[in-house]
Amino acid sequence: MDKLVVHGGSVLKGAINISGSKNASLPILAAAILTGEDCIIRRVPDVSDTNYMIQILSALGADVERSSGTVRITCADITDEAPYELVRRMRASICVMGPLLARKGRAVISLPGGCVIGDRPVDLHLKGMEALGAKVEFEGGNITLTAPNGLVGAEMDLRGDSGPTVLGTDNVMMAATLAEGITVIESAAAEPEVLDLANFLNSLGAKITGAGTRRIVIEGVKELKGVEHTVIPDRIEAGTFMAAAALAGEGVTLNRVNREHLKAITAAIIKSGHSVEFNEAGDSCFIQRGENPQGVDLTTSPYPGYPTDMQAQMTALLATTPGTSVIKDTIFPQRFMHCAELKRMGADIKIDHGTAIVRGVEQLSAAPVMASDLRASAALVLAALRAKGTTEISRVYHIDRGYEHIDEKLLMLGAKVERVRV
Ligand code: EPU
Repeated sequence: MDKLVVHGGSVLKGAINISGSKNASLPILAAAILTGEDCIIRRVPDVSDTNYMIQILSALGADVERSSGTVRITCADITDEAPYELVRRMRASICVMGPLLARKGRAVISLPGGCVIGDRPVDLHLKGMEALGAKVEFEGGNITLTAPNGLVGAEMDLRGDSGPTVLGTDNVMMAATLAEGITVIESAAAEPEVLDLANFLNSLGAKITGAGTRRIVIEGVKELKGVEHTVIPDRIEAGTFMAAAALAGEGVTLNRVNREHLKAITAAIIKSGHSVEFNEAGDSCFIQRGENPQGVDLTTSPYPGYPTDMQAQMTALLATTPGTSVIKDTIFPQRFMHCAELKRMGADIKIDHGTAIVRGVEQLSAAPVMASDLRASAALVLAALRAKGTTEISRVYHIDRGYEHIDEKLLMLGAKVERVRV
C-alpha cells in the first residue's frame, strides 16, 4: 500500500495539463455496451476507477484495448451479469445497469454497499428503470432487472431529497436510447459529465435533446453504431490544482481546461482573494496566490452550483486563510472526514449538521494522516504542501482512484512529494 510523503513549504510554479474527466469517462465507457460496434474513447484518465470499469466490461465479455489514454471497446457479445468481485470496488459500476438492461433485456448487478461520504442509495436509478417498464427484484445482495419485451419510453421526475442524481440521470438516459418511443426526464442532473455522455450517445446515433438542462428528452432508436469520442477535461482535477496554486503557488498555469465548467470554482477562488485569469479560448488559466486571502462561505449544490467534489480541497485552502469560513455540503452532509485529519495538522474546524466552520490559522504542521476517500485525500495533500514539516499520507489508493499521476504533476510544479511503498 503506497504512502505519499509531502515536504511542506515548497512553492508551486509552472504549467501542467489537466487530464480527461474521470466522472465523464466512467458512464461513457459503460455506454459502449449499447452497441456491438467499435467505440474509441480518447483522454480516458489512467486512474484505478477507469481501470475497474474496463475490468467490468472485459468480465462482461467486451473486447477492450487501452493505450496511452485511448480505449477501444467492442461489445459484440456480452453477458448480462456484472461480477460482484469487481462491482463492489466502485459505486460507479452501477452505470452498467442501464446499458445492460437496454441491450440484453436483463441486468444483474450487486447492490452498492455503504460509502464513507454518506448513504448513497440507488432508488432513483430504479425508479427510472421501472418507469421504462423494467421489473426490479432483489436477492442475495443483487438487483435483477428484466424487460424481456424491451423498454418503453416514459415521462419521469428523477428529483430526490438532495436534488438531481448524476449517475441516475446517466443510467436512465442510456437505457432510454434503445427504448420504444419517447422518454422525458424531469429534474435531470445538468452536470457537464451528463452532457458529455449525451454527446457521446448522440454520436452513436441516439436522439437526445436537452442534456445539460433539467429536462432531457430521448427518442428511442432501434440500434446504435460505433464512434470515436474525446472526453471533456476533468473540472475537479482542475479545481484541485487551482486550490493548490492558491494555497502554495507563485503563478501556476493549467492547460486543457474548460472555463465554462469551472465558473463556480473560479468564483470561490477569486472570492477568497486569489486571481484566476483565462486565455481568450477559455482552455487555459493562470492562478496567482493573492496578497490578502480571506475566508468565504460556500454551499455545495448541483451544477452549475459549487460542486461537492471540491468541498474538501477548498476546506484545506480555507484552513490557513485568515477569517472564518462556513462550508455547507447539501449533497453529502456527512462528507467531512478530512476535517478530523486536518485538525490533527492544527486546523481549527468545527462540524455541525453538514456544515464546517473553519477559522483560518496561520500555519498547519505536518502529522501522519490517513486518506478516507478520493477528494479527502486530495485535501490532505493540499494542506501538506503548506504545512510546516513532512506529512505522511497513508491509504493513497483513494487518491489513485481519480487523480491521474498526481505526484508527478505536483513534482512538475516544484512540490516535494515522494511515493513510498510500504
Ligand atoms: N441520491 C438518492 N437516490 C439515488 C441516487 C442519489 O437519494 O438513487 C442522492 C445521493 O445520496 C446524494 C444526491 O442524490 O445526496 C446526489 O447523488 P448523485 O446520484 O448525483 O451521485 P452519483 O451520481 O452517485 C456522482 C459523482 C460523485 C459526485 C456526485 C455528486 C460519478 C462517478 N460520481 O455520483 O463523484 O460526488 O455525482 O455530484 O460521477 C467523486 O468524484 O469524488 C465523486 C464522489
